[in-house]
Amino acid sequence: MSSTPPPAAFSLARPLPANFARSLPHRHCARRRPALTMVVTAAKPATKPASPCFSSGPCKKRPGYSLVEALSDAPLGRSHRSALGKEKLAEAIRRTKDVLQIPEDYRVAIVPGSDTGAFEMAMWSMLGRRPVDLCYWESFGKGWLVDAINHLRLEAVTDFAAAEYGMLPNFSSVNKDHDVLFTFNGTTSGVRVEEGLEFIKDDRAGLSICDATSAVFAMHVPWGKVDVLTFSWQKVLGGEAAHGMLVLSPRAVERLESYVPPRPLPKIFRMTRRGRLDEGLFEGNVINTVSMMCVEDYLDALKWCDKVGGLDGLVKRSMDNLAVLEAFVDKNDWIDFLAKDPKSRSNTSVCLTLDLPKDKVKKMVEMLAAEEVAYDINSYRDAPPGLRIWCGATVEAADLQALTQWIEWAYNILADK
Ligand SMILES: Cc1ncc(COP(=O)(O)O)c(C=O)c1O
Repeated sequence: MSSTPPPAAFSLARPLPANFARSLPHRHCARRRPALTMVVTAAKPATKPASPCFSSGPCKKRPGYSLVEALSDAPLGRSHRSALGKEKLAEAIRRTKDVLQIPEDYRVAIVPGSDTGAFEMAMWSMLGRRPVDLCYWESFGKGWLVDAINHLRLEAVTDFAAAEYGMLPNFSSVNKDHDVLFTFNGTTSGVRVEEGLEFIKDDRAGLSICDATSAVFAMHVPWGKVDVLTFSWQKVLGGEAAHGMLVLSPRAVERLESYVPPRPLPKIFRMTRRGRLDEGLFEGNVINTVSMMCVEDYLDALKWCDKVGGLDGLVKRSMDNLAVLEAFVDKNDWIDFLAKDPKSRSNTSVCLTLDLPKDKVKKMVEMLAAEEVAYDINSYRDAPPGLRIWCGATVEAADLQALTQWIEWAYNILADK
């Protein structure tokens, strides 16, 4: 059997350690030790991840996903306002509440425009009554700040920025009389808040408004600390994009019913009718047409949640995934978490830095994709160069384990070039 030589790019000339000759078996002993060099070929790891999908959104489909089976009951070609369509939408809301353990008196709606649509809907409908504290530590959170100032033209906005990527802001002066906006998990920096949300006070007068799109289904949300929460289907459950989820506490509903914002609201942002909450919206009577294919796919993902132990099972899967990368980082001094404080390490969008220049990081990402062991694991465009590896509940720990060996393989090649 002839073996194909590895491509030249995967060979490297590496100086051997000083005691190398002494450690060789007798017959391989080299005579002139000081000049000893040889071509080392970085052998490829024997195992590839069963799935190379580690993107931070859209994220990997659940284990065992089959397009045909997942969608076999989709009411395609039927109206979303038919009894069948409405029942599917109501089921999606009901199952979301069950899996996420959302309190009975909170409302949940399916809204247009994915997580962005849901979050903007809340901002445009609710902000302006109180000053706003905007806490952010990466690109998406910063986007909410820009919108609050440049588009909503709010004057009383306090900027709680993190000192740098990888850090959380100092929350200590968040004011409980202000509305506070924050991201539960910073998808582009791999930095998350702790589950207790200590900076949100129980006796607050303002609303706490949380973008949790890369956190829900992988982290526990303390619902008593959250008045508005948004997410989209394509993240932790690996659903399809397009639709957003909006969760409102009774206090958020009270704001909607008592406050008329000083700005026009496009139809797709409207949650009230004649000053009262549009209850139908929270029963599946959506604002505009939804994709029943995406709804069915989301239902499939929610049913899978029950099979893996519900919320606790999902969180555990994600934490176990993070643990694989933690063990890998502990073993290697050339790779580290972007998150400075271990307690703030994301267990979904894990961001890693490498002691390689930017062009070599890019090369690593390309090599791993070419080998079909990891797709889309480059860091976000605004974030420091590095890897971003999705560790949400749909990803398998064994696949991450296999991936680490390939990262090491690529690093050994690139570091010595
Ligand atoms: C924290 C955060 N907010 C908002 C968004 C935008 O989400 P969508 O594309 O679902 O609107 C993302 C997407 O990655 C995100 O990670």
